[in-house]
Amino acid sequence: MLVNQKYTNDQIWKAVTHELKSALHVKNHPFRFMVMGSTDGIEVSQRYVVMRDIDDDFNVYAFTDDRTLKVEQFKKNPNCSLLFYHGEKRLQIRINGVVELHQYAGLKDYYWKSVKGEAKKAYTSSNAPGEPIKEWEEAYQWDGSLKSKHFTVMKVIPAQIEVLQLHKLEHLRIRFTKLNYEWVGQKLIP
Ligand SMILES: Cc1cc2nc3c(=O)[nH]c(=O)nc-3n(C[C@H](O)[C@H](O)[C@H](O)COP(=O)(O)O)c2cc1C
Repeated sequence: MLVNQKYTNDQIWKAVTHELKSALHVKNHPFRFMVMGSTDGIEVSQRYVVMRDIDDDFNVYAFTDDRTLKVEQFKKNPNCSLLFYHGEKRLQIRINGVVELHQYAGLKDYYWKSVKGEAKKAYTSSNAPGEPIKEWEEAYQWDGSLKSKHFTVMKVIPAQIEVLQLHKLEHLRIRFTKLNYEWVGQKLIP
């Protein structure tokens, strides 16, 4: 359990955001992987991605290849949801926001520097992710230079961060909404 009924909204906010940020440096932290939801307005898709960074405004960063379905969908509809669950602390965090795609210079170049060696292969396959193939070998082809051409940074700008703390029959649910640069908490029926 991370938070309890004695916590003020502000204390819950501090504990939850601290836990989220700790996933960046604590080994095997369950918040390191998040479920990212996207839609083109009709079809809904979800997948796990790695949380690569989170800044002081709680913008969350993930990396991908610009040829993936999620990028195609975010170009049509920037709405995004992120979902985290900490099994030991029985804590769910749900973030709703919009995605900014960084495909050229700026943040893309900044984060590309953090992708070392062979890890670059995740964003540089010769054939596009999701392309049908006959043989597995077709999936493992890269042009020698491993350039950042398809590397894309997804910056998720949160509008709401909702927390569910499971606790016996007395769960706690609270939604934080960004209002005039401040995160305001509203307790909810779980
Ligand atoms: C634990 C885990 C972590 C993953 N991390 C990423 C990631 O950081 N970026 C990414 O693009 N795909 C990641 N993937 C693969 C995606 O889940 C997905 O299969 C792929 O990006 C294609 O998704 P799309 O076609 O829906 O865009 C990860 C998968 C798993 C299981």
